[in-house]
Amino acid sequence: MTILPELIRQRRTVNLFTAQSVPDALITQLLETAVYAPNHKLSEPWRFVLLDSTAKLEYAALRREYAIQQGKNPQSIYQMFLQIPAFVFVIMHESADKTRRDEDLAATAALIQNLILLAQDKGLASKWSSFPDLPEFRTWLSLAEQESVVGVIHLGYPAQIPPDKGRTPAQERISILKGK
Ligand SMILES: Cc1cc2nc3c(=O)[nH]c(=O)nc-3n(C[C@H](O)[C@H](O)[C@H](O)COP(=O)(O)O)c2cc1C
Repeated sequence: MTILPELIRQRRTVNLFTAQSVPDALITQLLETAVYAPNHKLSEPWRFVLLDSTAKLEYAALRREYAIQQGKNPQSIYQMFLQIPAFVFVIMHESADKTRRDEDLAATAALIQNLILLAQDKGLASKWSSFPDLPEFRTWLSLAEQESVVGVIHLGYPAQIPPDKGRTPAQERISILKGK
């Protein structure tokens, strides 16, 4: 168990994982805590999809096709996705009300940060990856029209931990509003 400031500062976006699998039961356990994220009016706008081994192959193949569209090397993208031990698709219900929708997005992002810090606390590493919001991906994931994927979370035990990219000190972004 690492203390929270260290967990936050040591977290990295990791691309390369060992072959060690990540049990669904462990991911479920992490999510049971992650859902304690603040969410206004207890809307709990989320649901989660994990992949079995066949679906992982399907997702890697979809990403290979998408790499071609993006002008990237399809084979290296395919290999990269094949070595990711587990995926968590974090799906949000899109409210028709903009304020509610924005609050729900913020809450779901908080949940994801909870998830990746809890994962790190268990020795796992993660990557928060964007979901290509394209018809073929949406159909494959059986997304409803009013759903979006806030993040695809890659999970596994790290094979290589990237260096700290650093951050602008918060101090430089702090101002004090002086009352009139
Ligand atoms: C909403 C969101 C979407 C992201 N999507 C991607 C992505 O598609 N691909 C990627 O490589 N990293 C993605 N990232 C990770 C960021 O690129 C990463 O956090 C940033 O480079 C800082 O690196 P660090 O996480 O190691 O500190 C995403 C992060 C967020 C919050």
